[in-house]
Amino acid sequence: MTVNTGNEAPDMAAFLLSPEELRQRRNTKWNQFPPDVIPSFIADMDFRVAPPVQAAILQSVEREDYGYQMRDGAKADRMLAGAFAARMEEAFGWKASADLVLPVSDLVQATYAAILTWSGPGDGVILQVPNYPPFRETLQTTGRRLIPLHMDERDGTYVFDLDRLETQIDANTRIFVLCNPQNPTGRVFSRDELEAVLAFAEKHDLLVISDEIHAELIYGDRPHIPFPALSPAAAARCVLLNSATKSFNIPGLRCAVMYFGTPELKAAYQARIPLRLTGSVNSLGIDATVAAWTQGQPWLDAVLAHLRTARDHLCGRLASELPGLRFHPPEATYLLWMDCSDLGIQGSAGDFFLDRAGVGFSRGEDFLPGAESRVRCNFATSLPILDEIVDRMVAALRSNAR
Ligand SMILES: Cc1ncc(COP(=O)(O)O)c(C=O)c1O
Repeated sequence: MTVNTGNEAPDMAAFLLSPEELRQRRNTKWNQFPPDVIPSFIADMDFRVAPPVQAAILQSVEREDYGYQMRDGAKADRMLAGAFAARMEEAFGWKASADLVLPVSDLVQATYAAILTWSGPGDGVILQVPNYPPFRETLQTTGRRLIPLHMDERDGTYVFDLDRLETQIDANTRIFVLCNPQNPTGRVFSRDELEAVLAFAEKHDLLVISDEIHAELIYGDRPHIPFPALSPAAAARCVLLNSATKSFNIPGLRCAVMYFGTPELKAAYQARIPLRLTGSVNSLGIDATVAAWTQGQPWLDAVLAHLRTARDHLCGRLASELPGLRFHPPEATYLLWMDCSDLGIQGSAGDFFLDRAGVGFSRGEDFLPGAESRVRCNFATSLPILDEIVDRMVAALRSNAR
């Protein structure tokens, strides 16, 4: 399997959807709120997909090719596993084994399944907070104990304190859920930070579930390091989760992968969660994901250049026009985590901006109970829409101050 990295990024203008086109979409982002609200919450991008992704889907549609699927003379799962391994090597220089890949529908499903496999009711699970809300829900639903690892603000960024975590865990703590890059803070963890997580996990004999869904949406110079790529010792206690759904904007196609750091981990998982229980993955999702990973790089380059511009434009305007707003520009993801504590808002900042500005951010309290003063903005949109978001924020805060 070859990966076409392409040389020239195509012009992003071709991929920007107009407000009219966005309103016609049937996705959650553009349908959850009334039409006068600008949605800036769920992690969908307002862009067309990569042309090779669309072509791969159209090929199946035109041929009405919807049977139980085979690709390249084998089960379609194998093609997906091979594309994942090739992509990891191309993107991160990590030699993953296609044999250790298991296709699943989505990362939340995979998180549930891994938690059920490697912990029991009442066991502790470490989770970075604030966090992607379904992680917390997974622990509540399965009766696991949340052990929070706070993303503290220090020196203009977010860091975690493993010494403090030492005082919080007990012998029944089994799992460390790592989200790297982290949603919602946008941190990309350094090798030192990841080595520290590994040392902690080794000391307490923890499985590391590493959600790396945002790994290809990085802006800075610090490279993403897949957790199993750290060392064989890291691989031996890691289940990595990834997909093309965030970086290539295809979350509705429901196709993701679990990667087990060793055959033993894969066997332990399969002994607990039979393959038939989670079922096989939709063939359109597999075709789209393989096309994205093998031919989507020129599109991704254009999108990343646009996202970097959008991030800088948004952060620049917010810093100059709302000096009371606190944030640290994200190193990755197209999500900006904002602290509105000093803006004079009573109650939930998310509710305030929805009701008074007509902007639908993600609410901070959904990422961390008590974080009503926070909101998360999705800046994967056009600059005019971003400008409208900022204009509306500024106007609502001005009228609130009167
Ligand atoms: C960190 C993280 N994990 C998982 C997901 C969702 O993945 P999926 O749709 O595959 O369940 C998201 C979606 O935004 C996310 O940010």
